[in-house]
Amino acid sequence: MTQILNQVAAKAFQTAFGYAPQHLVQAPGRVNLIGEHTDYNDGFVLPCAINFGTVIAVSARSDKTVRVVAADYQGETDEFQLDSPIQPLADGIWPNYVRGVVKYLLAHGLLLKGADLALAGDVPQGAGLSSSASLEVAVTQAFKTLQGFNDLSPTDMALIAQRAENNFVGCNCGIMDQLVSARGEAGSALLIDCRSLTTQSVPLPPDLAVMIVHSRIRRGLVGSEYNTRRMQCEAAAKHYGVKALRDLSLTRLEADAGDLDATVLRRAKHIVTENQRTLDAAEALAAGDLRRMGLLMAASHDSMRDDFEITVPAMDQLVDILQMAIGDIGGARMTGGGFGGCAVALMPQEKAESVRLAVENHYKSPTGDAGTVYVCHASAGAGPLARTFQ
Ligand code: GLA
Repeated sequence: MTQILNQVAAKAFQTAFGYAPQHLVQAPGRVNLIGEHTDYNDGFVLPCAINFGTVIAVSARSDKTVRVVAADYQGETDEFQLDSPIQPLADGIWPNYVRGVVKYLLAHGLLLKGADLALAGDVPQGAGLSSSASLEVAVTQAFKTLQGFNDLSPTDMALIAQRAENNFVGCNCGIMDQLVSARGEAGSALLIDCRSLTTQSVPLPPDLAVMIVHSRIRRGLVGSEYNTRRMQCEAAAKHYGVKALRDLSLTRLEADAGDLDATVLRRAKHIVTENQRTLDAAEALAAGDLRRMGLLMAASHDSMRDDFEITVPAMDQLVDILQMAIGDIGGARMTGGGFGGCAVALMPQEKAESVRLAVENHYKSPTGDAGTVYVCHASAGAGPLARTFQ
C-alpha cells in the first residue's frame, strides 16, 4: 500500500478532529487466483492479499462515542454511541461497514472504548477485489491496535468482519475475503480450507507477475445471483445427503444425480471440480509450474462460464485476450463473485508489458470503456503501520 494512503488518512483525521492520530493501521484487498464460490461450500480457495487496501488513522476517546470520517467520500462523517443499540443507516454505504464491525466486536465480548477514526482506501470498488472486506478488517485492526486486544487472532477478526457483512450489511458472503485480508502473507498466496479455516502459504515464484484487469463491465444483479447460486449449492448438497459440496466426489456427483435438476447439477459440478483444481493449483504454483497453473485457470474459467454461469460475454473475451497474449506459461480467468469485475492473470514478469498492450489494443467493455490493468504483488495481511504520531 502506498505511503500516500497513510498521509491521506492522517490528514483527514487532523482536519476532521483537530488533533493528530495515535495509530495507523491497514488491511488489504485481495485477488482470488482460483477457487471461486467454493468458500461457502466448505471448500478450498487460493487468494492472495494485494497492495491495495484501507488505511485507518485512529485515536482513543475517553467516552463511548465513535466518530468516523471517510477521506474518499469528500470527508463524509458518521457518529454513534457504544452504549446504545447500533443500527444500520438506511442510506449509509460506508458507515454500515464500520457500525457492523463495531457491533460484532462488542458481541464478541470486547469492552470497547470510544474512538475517532479516519478511513482512506484505494481498492477499486465494485471490482471484485474486496474493498468491503478490507474496510471491515481494517476497522477490527484499528480497535485491536488501539486497545491491545492481543488475544484477538486474525481468524477471529475475519469471522467478526464476516458476521458484520452477513448480518448487518446483508451480504451473504463466505469467509475467503476477510480471512485473506486478515492473514495474507507477502510473496505468497494462501490455500484456505474454508471448513477448518486452516491456511497453508503457497510462495509465488519470484519472477511471477500477478496482473489484475478491471473489465469495467457494469455489474447488475450480483447480490441476487450470488444468493441464488448459494441456494442451488445447498439444494445439491441436500440431494446428495452431504453436509456441504466439499464432501461430494465427482464419481458420486455423476452416479447419484437421479432426478436432480440439470441446472443445479451443473452448479454442483463446478464446485466439485473447482475444489480439486484449487488443490492442484496450490501444488502447481508451489512447484513453479506455470504451464499447469495456466491449464487449471483456463479450466476454472470454462467451468464458471458453462457450469456455474457467472461470467458474461465481455469477460469471456477479456480472458481470451489475456490467454492468447500469455501463451502456455501462465494463465487467466475471471476472479471474484462474477458478472463482471476483474480478470486475474499470472505470467512471467517479462511478459507483463506485452500482455498489458494486448488488453489496451483489443479490449473494450460493452459501454466502450478500456480495461484498467494493475500489476500487483502478494502482500501481508492486516496490521499496524506505524506509530509516528504523538
Ligand atoms: C465474493 C464473496 C466470497 C466468495 C466469492 C466467490 O467475493 O465475498 O466469499 O464467495 O465471491 O468466490
